[in-house]
Amino acid sequence: MPSERVAVVGVGYVGLSVACTLAEAGFETIGVDIDIARVQTINAGRSPIVGKEPGLSELLSKVVAEGRLKASSDILACKRMDAYFLCLDSPISQNKRPILDVLRGECVNVGKVMGRDCLVSVESTLPPRTMQDMVIPLLEKNSGMRAGKDFSVVHCPERVMPGRLLYNMRNYSRVIGGLDKRSVERAKHFYSKLTKGELFETDLLSAEICKTAENAYRDVQIAFANEVALICEEAGADAFEVRRLVNTCPFRDMHTPGAGVGGHCLTKDSWLLVSQVKRAGPSVIADARRLNDLMPVHTAGLAEEALVEAERPLKDSRISVMGLAFLRDSDEIRNSPAMAIIDHFADRADVVVHDPFVPEGYRAPLERDLGKALLGSDCAIFVTDHSVYKELDLMSLKEWMRTPVIVDGRNIFDGRRCRDLGFIYKGVGKG
Ligand SMILES: NC(=O)c1ccc[n+]([C@@H]2O[C@H](COP(=O)([O-])OP(=O)(O)OC[C@H]3O[C@@H](n4cnc5c(N)ncnc54)[C@H](O)[C@@H]3O)[C@@H](O)[C@H]2O)c1
Repeated sequence: MPSERVAVVGVGYVGLSVACTLAEAGFETIGVDIDIARVQTINAGRSPIVGKEPGLSELLSKVVAEGRLKASSDILACKRMDAYFLCLDSPISQNKRPILDVLRGECVNVGKVMGRDCLVSVESTLPPRTMQDMVIPLLEKNSGMRAGKDFSVVHCPERVMPGRLLYNMRNYSRVIGGLDKRSVERAKHFYSKLTKGELFETDLLSAEICKTAENAYRDVQIAFANEVALICEEAGADAFEVRRLVNTCPFRDMHTPGAGVGGHCLTKDSWLLVSQVKRAGPSVIADARRLNDLMPVHTAGLAEEALVEAERPLKDSRISVMGLAFLRDSDEIRNSPAMAIIDHFADRADVVVHDPFVPEGYRAPLERDLGKALLGSDCAIFVTDHSVYKELDLMSLKEWMRTPVIVDGRNIFDGRRCRDLGFIYKGVGKG
């Protein structure tokens, strides 16, 4: 068992999983967070994460009970640790610019408490050059030491996702961007005990761009599918049939279009990636992000069209938004496209939101009972493909609804069958 002491600064989704797996590997681990309630919950051996996270609660209570993980709201509890893992959020502003204030502040704090020969690993997703231009200068200034000479620095971006935090942490490969060879070797000592996956060595800047580029790549692919969906709608074609055919061609892998992209990372990482670009001119990455952001509004527009067809005034309509989480069968709602649809109809119609997984307490009033959410409804907008929606009996749905209008944002239903049963059916990508 290793005898080193390590600190994880920021124990949210990423940091909590890092802290638990470090403690599991035998490191004496302190998790630091400004959220005092979160600190208390962790120290009581309970997980502060509400959604389904296989194995995390059990691991957390075990490592806390064994005394290998403690949480604290005081960075002074982390003097002279062998390693610091910075897992702070790196969000974007309303105008899509990176907000790095929290990371900046904690680089100052870590600089003040760190000792000689330690490792600092930044796991937060970063705009290009943040390690060289911000993190290292702040650590050096506040520690009075030289990076590479007195301490080691790496950027090791995370690849976890909600619902699979521990699985990804233990199995996925990692990119370790090091200031120098020694920094990479120090980091490998820790990361080889966290994951069975391969560890890929590179420099700091390549690691930064790799992380945001891997998410931007996916976002662009989804935007392509969404644009094809919009073309199909106008032309009267079915984008899902087109996708099936496109993917019969070798080396093609068209993604699935839908009512929008949600989540913490895909919605911001493209903006972090392009944030330092000075050249003017077209940007596939930025335009993809804008297009994906438009999809919830487009989906709401389909609902408005359908209500006009049904001769049902919007102001007298009851709209059922089906699915608040952005992921199937999960409770993760950060940047969910459903939010934009709810906002679109707020104050203009009577909106009811259904989700079987999201707990009460979020900003939209929730109806958990499927029948009640659809009773008297004039338009059911399916935003998430929760399994329960796929099993829905269309005849029951028609009986519950006042006006039989379906807007299908996730290709859940067979449009022709819906129309045969007397529904007005509109779907994203279904012309
Ligand atoms: N969530 C994911 O699935 C995921 C996946 C890959 C990468 N990332 C990246 O990892 C980073 C962290 O993401 P997250 O989802 O864990 O964020 P999060 O918001 O869940 O966690 C951040 C934590 O830091 C704490 N915090 C805020 N200010 C602090 C301070 N001054 N000192 C100590 N703690 C402080 C918060 O209370 C919170 O618990 C981000 O850069 C994100 O882009 C996240």
